[in-house]
This record gives sequence, structure tokens and C-alpha cells, in this order.
Amino acid sequence: MEKKYVTKAHYLLHGGDYNPDQWLDYPEILEQDLELMEEASANAFSVGIFAWSTLEPEEGTYQFEWLDKILDDLAAKGSKVLLATPSGARPAWLSQKYPEVLRVNERRQKMLHGGRHNHCFTSPVYREKTQKMNRLLAERYKDHPALLMWHVSNEYSGDCHCDLCQEAFRDWLKERYHHHLAELNHAWWGPFWSHTFSDWSQIESPSPIGESAVHGLNLDWHRFVTHQTIDFYRNEIAPLREVTPDVPVTTNFMADGNDLKPFQSLDYSKFAKEVDVISWDAYPAWHNDWESTAELAMKVGFIDDLYRSLKNQPFLLLESTPSGVNWHPVNKAKRPGMHQLSAMQMVAHGADSIMYFQWRKSRGSSEKFHGAVVDHDGDKENRVFQDVKQVGETLAGLAEVAGSLRPAKVALVYDWENNWALNHAQGYSRETKRYPQTVQEHYRPFWEQDIPVDVITKEHDFSKYEVVILPMLYLMDEATIDRITDYVEQGGTVVTTYISGIVDEHDLAYLGGWPAALQEVFGVSPLETDTYYPNDRNAVTYQDKTYEVNDYATILSLTGAEVLGNYEADFYAGTRAVTRHSYGKGQAYFIGARLEADFQRDFYAALIEERAIESVLPVTHGRGVSVQGRQVDEGTYIVFLMNFAEEKQTVVIEAEVTDYQTKESISGEVSLQPYEVKIVSHVKK
Ligand code: GLA
Ligand code: ZN
Repeated sequence: MEKKYVTKAHYLLHGGDYNPDQWLDYPEILEQDLELMEEASANAFSVGIFAWSTLEPEEGTYQFEWLDKILDDLAAKGSKVLLATPSGARPAWLSQKYPEVLRVNERRQKMLHGGRHNHCFTSPVYREKTQKMNRLLAERYKDHPALLMWHVSNEYSGDCHCDLCQEAFRDWLKERYHHHLAELNHAWWGPFWSHTFSDWSQIESPSPIGESAVHGLNLDWHRFVTHQTIDFYRNEIAPLREVTPDVPVTTNFMADGNDLKPFQSLDYSKFAKEVDVISWDAYPAWHNDWESTAELAMKVGFIDDLYRSLKNQPFLLLESTPSGVNWHPVNKAKRPGMHQLSAMQMVAHGADSIMYFQWRKSRGSSEKFHGAVVDHDGDKENRVFQDVKQVGETLAGLAEVAGSLRPAKVALVYDWENNWALNHAQGYSRETKRYPQTVQEHYRPFWEQDIPVDVITKEHDFSKYEVVILPMLYLMDEATIDRITDYVEQGGTVVTTYISGIVDEHDLAYLGGWPAALQEVFGVSPLETDTYYPNDRNAVTYQDKTYEVNDYATILSLTGAEVLGNYEADFYAGTRAVTRHSYGKGQAYFIGARLEADFQRDFYAALIEERAIESVLPVTHGRGVSVQGRQVDEGTYIVFLMNFAEEKQTVVIEAEVTDYQTKESISGEVSLQPYEVKIVSHVKK
């Protein structure tokens, strides 16, 4: 069976961000690091992420000797390095001499030097300086035995509204609209509030975007920011590609907010095409006081499944904390067991590494209390260090997992452009659109039932899945409509919901009712969507059970579909809410209302049963347990039984499996303590 190794290391990486540049005056600390790295079974480090002021203390004066020594020392210990390009933070001399590198905010105020992740993506000077630095790094270390991959910049994000960026935006628009201002004016619905432009020079970035009424402009600005960020990144990697063509490149992606959504401000479906390896930084607020650990684990699984599916290959967990962070509202330590559990969850969903921010807690500045493998005490008996050591030992025993995948028959579609368009849409309700959370609501039943799923983009191949679910896909371009149509025609099953297929790629509403192709496929036509106040209630009866409606209810007319569920109340009482339609060789379901979680559970359970879609291992268990696995060989799966519940749980395994550590065979009841994870191997007959 083919494996997809994402780096030349055919084992799981364990390590993290290592900032020796903060410790050059403390040689004894650097010595101690090497010993502790070995003790923790750490084998990979991201080095030099914020080291520009140490690498080039003055313009044109370079200091690489310290980095030579660090890389040599790490190589001598058998460790690998993800060598960083330092563009995420720049030295003061650079901002001082070339103020054009400083970002301008949406109110057109120029930012001062300080902080990080705040340079202009267009500035020719910054592009020149970063490229020069990257070339020097590539040339110096191209043959270094420690060099495993490139860690390009850090967590690209944000936008810049300077004159250079405005000009670049206009150039990008000219290209997009074929140098026809009339085409742009049409796409942006120009005459609305007299927003027709008579010259390209009148066009500016939205300021601020939250108050901008021109939705076509807003959407294009989001697209441009992704484009320009990628363009900057391409400029960064040009010398790396040239000098080290065989060294893979990654840049660390993120998640958004304490409620852990996919990162929103950059379209990662576009960025994914430009990197060799997807990597991300995960900081779930474990043990918070607003949701259960299991609920949060479900959201982590969702993002993992999305980021893995972007390239259909393993991803790297590039940053995580072994204990707390310094930026959550409350920076709580991981309870005993949680570190091992959260690390194994990542591996179970496709991570080929567990890496930390940070190796050693810094002594000063804002991250001096951020969790780290090595605390200020430098003590290997430290609880956190011991937790990390345990993960290191477990990963060392799981080398065969590296490069392995998770075959799935079900896919959910997630779309960044849709999220932007929906968030800007002034209609429905501001508070309750919740697109990412809605997709998560449709992911939940599969997570609870241990069914592997991919979370794909609208451009992925649908045909390899039995079921494709596209919740709340408000922005549906014609290409996507065609792809849905073809897929169902050929025998696929699709599910969509309320507020789908409303606007095209310019955020212009479809005219003449729901697009004809969608009406044909789904056999329904949405007439209007009712928006609820938080206390409004309705219900849908489906298969003799009643489920609560919240937030949205779409009134449907039938154009051929079979009715599976009806509304209970209000002026649309008795009308259809859930439908199924046969089209070509396939089936198309429409869920007209936002329904409580139990509906999704029952609805998808029926579909799973009907299609005989299997979980990774035949098991039964209560809520809070997740069973996820990776296929390491033809028929052989490494399966992780994980208890995210705060109480002991029993898992009944209806198959023969082998305990991965003790090699004993097990079946029947297995009990899991709170936060316990058990690893087994399973041969599918
Ligand atoms: C981000 C950054 C790191 C560090 C961590 C702290 O992920 O990439 O440099 O600041 O946050 O959680
Ligand atoms: Zn700029």
C-alpha cells in the first residue's frame, strides 16, 4: 500500500519551535537543551522563526555562525530542522530605514514598528530583503544534514491598506475583470447607492470592511488579500525552490477563535496548492468553562479533517502547547492525561508530527509564561516535561503510522468564500449565520459514530465519495452547481440545507428563482427563508419524531421530491421541511431548517445504515469517546480509542484487536479512564 510521506523522515516528528537566538548569552542553557531534547525523544525543531535581528543585526552585516553551531549540534544528536525564513518579524533598522514595509490599517493609519506579523505584503523593499535573506539561508544550509524542510515565515495573516497595496489591488481587479470597468461595475452592482466607478483610480479597499455596503468589493478584497499573501510567499520561496528543489516547503496555518473554527481571513484552499505540506498550529482551550472537552475535541477533529483533506495527505502539527498558553482568557494547564490524549487525537486524524510552541520558555517579554517543554526551572522532573516525554516515547513506537491515510466514504464541503459572503450578507440574522459551526453540526454525528470523513473544498473530486454534504452553501457558483449535478447523475448522494445556492461568485443573487439545475437535482424550490428570534420555536416531524427548529426555516415548494419531514407550526405548518429526490443514478436530500443536533444524529444514522458505511472499528460506546484510525497497510489499521469525557467510559469492541503496546489481543469490553487513550491495531477482514 502506498504511503504519502510528507518529508524524508519516515517516522513521526516530535519537537517544536526552538529559539536559541534568545539564549546565546547562556551557553550552559544551550548545552542543557541538547540533553533534554534527547531525554524527551524530541527529533525535530523549527529554528530561526524570529531570528532576523540576530542573523542581520545591521543592514548587510550577517551573523550565521551561531546558527551553524545550533544546526551542527542538532544534527549530531540525529535531530532534524525545519529551517525558518524570518519574515514574520523584522529588525528595527529595516522599519526605520524603509518605512514602506510598515503596514497601513483599514483607517489608513500607518503602524509603528513593533510586534510582529505586520509587514506590508506588497512592499518591493520587503520582498527584496526577505528574498535576499532566504537565499543566504538556502545557500548556506542546502547540504546541511539537519535540514528537513522549510518553515516559511510564520502564521501569515492580516491585510495592508497602503498605497502600494491599493495599486496592487487595482491591478489585480483589472486582470480579474479583463480591463473592463463595466464588467466590474456589473459584478459589484455599481448603481446601488451610486457606486458605479468611472475610472479604476477611484477604487479603494473597503474601509472598514464591516461597514462597506458593496459586497462584491468586500468579497474581492478578501480574495485579493489571499492572492497577495500567496504572492508574497511565492517571492519568499523562489530562492528556496531554486537552491534546494528537493526540500519541502510549509507555512503554518491557524484556526480561529476560542471556539476553534477554520482560520477565516485567508482562503487556505488556495494556499494549500502552493505548499508541499500542510501544517497548522492548534491551541484548543481544553478544560474551559463553556463547553465540554468532547465538544472541543469534535471541533479539533473537524479542522484536522479539513486541513488533511486539503492535500489528501498527512499534515504536520507544527505548534501546540504541552500545558497552557498565554493568550486564552484563562490559561489553564492541561490535566493529567490530556497531553497524551490531545497529541494522539492529532495523530489519529492524520498528523505526522507533534510539535510545540515552544521548546524552552523564554525569560522575558510577552511569552515568558506561555507553556513550554522546558520551564524556567529547567527540570526534567517537571510534570509538563514528563508528559512530553511520554508523548515522545509513544510517537517513537508509532513510526509505521507516518505517511498513512484515512480512507473515507463521506465528505463535507467547507468553503472560505462562502463564509465571507455569508458574513457580509445583511439579511437573515447577524448573530446566527454561523457557517463554520453549521458545517461542524453536520460533522458531529460522524465524529460521534467514528465514521471517517474528509472535509473537502468545492474543487475536490466528489466522485470518490458515496455521500457529499454541502451545508449552508449560500455562494454557489455555476461550476459548483454543475459538479453537484454530475455527481448525483452518476450515482452520488448529496445533502444540502437552507440558505444554499442563493448567490453566484460575485455575491449577486440568482434571478428567476432557485437555479434550474438545483431544482432538477433536489426536486424542490426554496420559496422564502424565515429567520427566528432566539425565543421563536418551531418543530419538524421526521420519521415519527419531532425536532426543534432554531434560527432558520425555509419554506419549500415541490418540483418532484419525496417529503420526509414537515413543519409543525406557524403559517407554514404542514408543509415540507426535509425532502429526498432521485436524480439520475443518485439521490439529493434537502434539509430546510436548522434543526437540533438529534436530527442530524438520526438523519445521518439512517444514511450510514442504508449505505452500510463503516466506522474504522466496530465499537459501541457512550458520548465523549472517539475512535479514529489510520490505515497503515492493506487492511491494517492503527486505531486510537480516546476518552474525552470527564468520567470513566466503557467501549465494547466487536472485533479482534491487538493492544499496540502490550501486543495482547483484546475484544469485548475495554474501560477507559477520563482522558485515557488506548492504541490498538486491527486487521479488517
Ligand atoms: C502562534 C505563534 C507562535 C506563538 C504562539 C503562542 O502560534 O506562531 O510564535 O506566539 O502563537 O501560542
Ligand atoms: Zn501595503
